[in-house]
Amino acid sequence: MNFFKNVREFADDEQKNILAVDDSPENIEIIKQSLTPEYQVKAAVRGELALEIARQQRVDLILLDIRMPGMDGYEVCQRLKEDPDTAQIPIIFLTGQDTMSDEALGLQMGAVDFIIKPINPPILKARLQTHLALNSARKKLKKHNNYLEELVEEKVAEIADSRMALIYALARLAESRDEETGEHLIRTQKYCWLLVNKLKEKGGYCQEINDSYCKNISIATPLHDIGKVGIPDSILLKPGKLSAEEFERVKNHTLIGYDIIEEIQQMYADNTLLQVGANIVLYHHEKWNGSGYPEGLSGQDIPLEARIMAIADVYDALRSERPYKDAFSPAKSSKIIQEDRGSHFDPLLVDCFLELESEFAKISSEKETMVNFSQEITLIGS
Ligand SMILES: [Fe+2]
Repeated sequence: MNFFKNVREFADDEQKNILAVDDSPENIEIIKQSLTPEYQVKAAVRGELALEIARQQRVDLILLDIRMPGMDGYEVCQRLKEDPDTAQIPIIFLTGQDTMSDEALGLQMGAVDFIIKPINPPILKARLQTHLALNSARKKLKKHNNYLEELVEEKVAEIADSRMALIYALARLAESRDEETGEHLIRTQKYCWLLVNKLKEKGGYCQEINDSYCKNISIATPLHDIGKVGIPDSILLKPGKLSAEEFERVKNHTLIGYDIIEEIQQMYADNTLLQVGANIVLYHHEKWNGSGYPEGLSGQDIPLEARIMAIADVYDALRSERPYKDAFSPAKSSKIIQEDRGSHFDPLLVDCFLELESEFAKISSEKETMVNFSQEITLIGS
């Protein structure tokens, strides 16, 4: 985005439209003669007509008489300020009443200036030019601020993309030696995103869930098995059944992963993303009934993010082919998740899963490629 190009776009040198509102045709005539041909002057001899013109046509400034039959200038001013479409039009009051109270009331109602009749053309023109220039500067400033806000949003999105890419790279490195693929990371990330949003929609665990929490979960889920980096190939890649001792070593991936995240957390103690990531890494194999690992936590003592990750991880494993099993069908996978409601999984999360069954099945059947892999990073991490 080029700021200078945008500023040129904001610049307007087109002829300005002035609306003169006065019940006296003589005054209207004086205003017209004073301002044309430099300005386009529209005229209204009644307040109601002035409102109609201001709402329907482009008006850059209003010269408004106070004393008029019917709707007076104060009421016209009030109505213009109440309407978002006309509230920003500068209003200069024209009046024969040179009392301080009139002036104070007019300015209080939002007028930018006051001109006392009889109208003096050079003074009228000078005041008008000043207020048109001020209004134009105000508009440019507003557009400039909008531009800066867009720029900040762009940069924030760029940083979020980079962060997401790094997390994926790190997680892929840890997963690269076993049967899991980048597709597993994307699918589990999508399942978690669906679950946490369904939970939010149903109002479950509302004290824990907000937009930032949902976002943190979706960003941190790919890290769940980062600790596999510390498991020897002889165990991680073993085609046959693991011995009890080997399985204990595999269980250590939760602790190894947590140690990695915890070390980073010491540098960024208040980072909520790292806190969510650490809980996912350490507790995603805990079970609702307390029979999981590494700490045997149960129920809501297991952090919510880890309970969400548990369903996503198990569902994806059920739907995937392994050396020791075929991929289970969506129906069979769903049945297993349901059977483990309240034993392995948080019952409320299983209820959410059941409402999302068809979406889970669709995601699990998608064929991802490394091309849309990177697109997904942007989609979910932004
Ligand atoms: Fe794991």
